[in-house]
Amino acid sequence: MEVVILPDAEAVGKEAARKIAVLIRRKPNCVLGLATGSTPIPCYRELIRMHKEEGLDFSKVTTFNLDEYYPIDPRHHQSYRYFMDENLFNHINIDKARTFVPYGLAPDPYEHCIWYEEQIKKAGGIDLQILGIGHNGHIAFNEPGSSLASRTRVKTLTRETIEANARFFERPEDVPRYAITMGIGTILEAREILLLATSEGKADAVAKAIEGPVTSMCPASALQLHPHVTFILDEAAASKLERKDYYKYVHEMSESLKRQIREKLANQI
Ligand code: GLP
Repeated sequence: MEVVILPDAEAVGKEAARKIAVLIRRKPNCVLGLATGSTPIPCYRELIRMHKEEGLDFSKVTTFNLDEYYPIDPRHHQSYRYFMDENLFNHINIDKARTFVPYGLAPDPYEHCIWYEEQIKKAGGIDLQILGIGHNGHIAFNEPGSSLASRTRVKTLTRETIEANARFFERPEDVPRYAITMGIGTILEAREILLLATSEGKADAVAKAIEGPVTSMCPASALQLHPHVTFILDEAAASKLERKDYYKYVHEMSESLKRQIREKLANQI
C-alpha cells in the first residue's frame, strides 16, 4: 500500500489524473472505475484539461461507476449519472455507450446488479478504480458492516449518509433511501486502486482505513488486502496518521530511486 501526501485537494486531483492519463496512453481501451462526490472533481477537471489541451483520447475507454441512488431518475440533477455527464463525460470524447452507471430506475434492481457485474466481466475487469471515502469509512455505498466479500447489490443507506448527502437535495426527505453499489469484493478485483481523500473531515476515516485493523466496520480498511493500492491524500486528510512522516519519507525515497533508474536507462541508450 502506498500513501502519497500532497499539499491540497488540487494537487490530489492532478496526481490522480496523471496516473489515469499514463494508463490511457499505455492502454487506450482500458477500463476505469469511477466515483462521484466532491473529492474526485479536481481530478475530472484535470482530465478534461488534458483532453482539451493535450489531446488525451478517451474514445476507446470504458467506465463503470461505483454506485447510484435508488430509485432516482438519471435525469435528476442529483443522480450520479447526471453528475458524471456534467463533471466529465460531456467534456471529453468518450463514447457514452461505454459509460456504465447503475440504472436508478431499473424495474428489478436485484436483476440489474447481476447484469452490472456481468458487464464488468465482459469488459475484461477494471484496470484502475478511483475511490472516495465516506466519513464513516464507507467506500461506494458499502456502509460499515458490509461484507468484505460483497458484490454489486442493493443497499439501504445509513442515516449518517443520508444526512451527509442531504445538502445536495432540495429537502432531506428527497434523498433516496437505497442505493445500488458495487460490493467490496467487486472493488477489490480491480487491478489497481486509487483512494482519494481531502479535508480534515476525512482524517479519522483515513487513519482507520490505513492504520486500523481490517474490519467490515471500516469498509475502506479492506483495501489493506489489495496488492496495488495508493491512497492520495491532502495534508488535512492525512493529519491523523500516526506514521505520516514515514509515508512521506518512503514516497520521497521511491521517487528518487525511480528517477535514478530512469537516468541510468537513458544513459545506456
Ligand atoms: C458518497 C459516495 C461515495 C463517496 C462519498 C464521499 O456517499 N457514494 O462514493 O466516496 O460520498 O463523498 P465526498 O467526496 O463528497 O466527500
